[in-house]
Amino acid sequence: MAIPTSRAKENAEIRIIEELCTGCGLCVDVCSDFGLVIEDGKAKTSDKAVFGCIACGHCMAVCPEGAIEIHGRTMSPSDLFDLPPKDKAADYDQMLVLLRRRRSIREFDGRPVEGNKIEQILEAAVTAPMGLPPSDVNVLVLDSREKNRAFVKDFCEFLETIRWFVSDWFMALMRPFWGKSNDEMFRDFVKPCFDIYISSMKKGENVVTYDAPLVMYFYGSPYTDPADPVVAATYAMIAGESMGLGTCMLGAIHPMIQYGRKARRFREKYGIKYASREGLFVIFGYPSVKYNKGIKRTFASVTSN
Ligand SMILES: Cc1cc2nc3c(=O)[nH]c(=O)nc-3n(C[C@H](O)[C@H](O)[C@H](O)COP(=O)(O)O)c2cc1C
Ligand code: SF4
Ligand code: SF4
Repeated sequence: MAIPTSRAKENAEIRIIEELCTGCGLCVDVCSDFGLVIEDGKAKTSDKAVFGCIACGHCMAVCPEGAIEIHGRTMSPSDLFDLPPKDKAADYDQMLVLLRRRRSIREFDGRPVEGNKIEQILEAAVTAPMGLPPSDVNVLVLDSREKNRAFVKDFCEFLETIRWFVSDWFMALMRPFWGKSNDEMFRDFVKPCFDIYISSMKKGENVVTYDAPLVMYFYGSPYTDPADPVVAATYAMIAGESMGLGTCMLGAIHPMIQYGRKARRFREKYGIKYASREGLFVIFGYPSVKYNKGIKRTFASVTSN
């Protein structure tokens, strides 16, 4: 049995190099699939594996002897790299400063985001945890204001063709199926979004992605854990912040391009490979606004029992 993703349908192969193995058992401890055991002082594959090797790579990464290799599901020993030194890692205070200084930025000074910074954002975002390896997150990158604007212009034209979705008759029809909170969301948020997006674009104003010079769309596949694109997008946002870019997450586009033939055509035009349960846009650019104060936030609840 193998857990399928869009990139891998088979289990990975576990190769143990017996001559190098000291039987320390570290690989056994970190394999959450129960795929390894120690027998006769050496690591062996176990017959108690739950799913079969998912190629998380943990056994390879923990082994001090280089005595275990994983091949398959896009992984090989060449995916290991030397850990950066611990004293180079940001400490809590540094991290908190970065997070506390962040604001959602929707005003940009017109400078493009340099190619190497785009690479760095992706380099950081790809380290995000995922429900199951190999990651099933896909990223669409629009790397200029012009590409962004063309995308949003098309998006608003597409919205116009599905405006019936927020018509009174459709929302009344759907209310018994999708319930009170969805009904409120549609009437008080989604419908006004449709209206403002479309009418602003007609006047040449982009209030969807704010003409940012860089847009990234993180989305999944039918196999993806729905949280994965959101986690990756969050990493990307924090990476952008660390480089002095202003960032803003945009949740409104994704749900509107999921359903129906027209949405599929729109996705195809932009090389968006799948409809997916969750997905998130993040915009990046050099801010033209500077905040003087931070803003305290609270969670809806924090309960401990
Ligand atoms: C999942 C998510 C979706 C969001 N969608 C939008 C959006 O579509 N348009 C927008 O202008 N801001 C959007 N935002 C930004 C929020 O409005 C913003 O985070 C919130 O107002 C708090 O401001 P702050 O980020 O400066 O603390 C989104 C944020 C998140 C986390
Ligand atoms: S961690 Fe390496 S050396 Fe230790 S038991 Fe596993 S394969 Fe052998
Ligand atoms: S790669 Fe992960 S699942 Fe596979 S044997 Fe190693 S620890 Fe277990």
